[in-house]
Amino acid sequence: MKKMLIAGNWKMHTNAFESVKLIEYIYGGIKDKNLNCKVLVCPPFTSLYPVSQVLKGSKVLLGAQNCHEEIEGAYTGEISVRMLRNIGCSHVIIGHSERRTYFGETNDLLNKKLKVILERPLSPIFCIGETLEERRAGNTFDVLSLQLEEGLDGIEGEDFERTVIAYEPVWAIGTGVAATDEQVKEAHDWLRGKLAEMRGEAARETILLYGGSMKPKNAESLLSIDNVNGGLIGGASLDPESFLKIIESAESVNK
Ligand code: PGA
Repeated sequence: MKKMLIAGNWKMHTNAFESVKLIEYIYGGIKDKNLNCKVLVCPPFTSLYPVSQVLKGSKVLLGAQNCHEEIEGAYTGEISVRMLRNIGCSHVIIGHSERRTYFGETNDLLNKKLKVILERPLSPIFCIGETLEERRAGNTFDVLSLQLEEGLDGIEGEDFERTVIAYEPVWAIGTGVAATDEQVKEAHDWLRGKLAEMRGEAARETILLYGGSMKPKNAESLLSIDNVNGGLIGGASLDPESFLKIIESAESVNK
């Protein structure tokens, strides 16, 4: 089994100076440890370079929160995966529900983004998840199926192996109300099965992250669930003590 992945999504928080302080604190807490899990931080674009300088030569991974679907061109205001790779990113979060909701990103567009990331070759963290209305209407698995089928269309072999999937129920993001262990277990067991149906054996090794109000107090039980291979953490990743505690929980789970 691949190593667990603990990823911090800093969203649109921290300026360049605050990012450096935050990563110095986090890195200070883990640099002398021989961690079993992988740690990834995804600061805003403007902080990627300063954070990369602090992390130079370390094992902590750097990721971005989005990218454009083209490698280069006249797209004022956009950032390409080529720029991200050049700055030392290994991962890019794609299809976060905030991007789907506020920026109208569709599965079709996300599929293009995934392909351009994989071509470079970086690892996408492809986010999927249902809204509360969809869950209440009993449509959770139809929604997740469509997101996976359209989003991963044509992504196979090595590309598929490099793709991380993050299950983030929209109603659990930033609300302080995480999904229950039972809900996460149900969704992740289903996900593993669905990916196996779609891509066969390779799905056994897919890293499946859970995201949505993961905190020090619930991290250990969430990370202990069989088909959970790590977490995508928003709010709690901005508090270095909390993020370090979640990393400790991942270490204690020892998968
Ligand atoms: P949260 O965010 O941990 O603050 O709920 C998770 C995410 O949006 O990835």
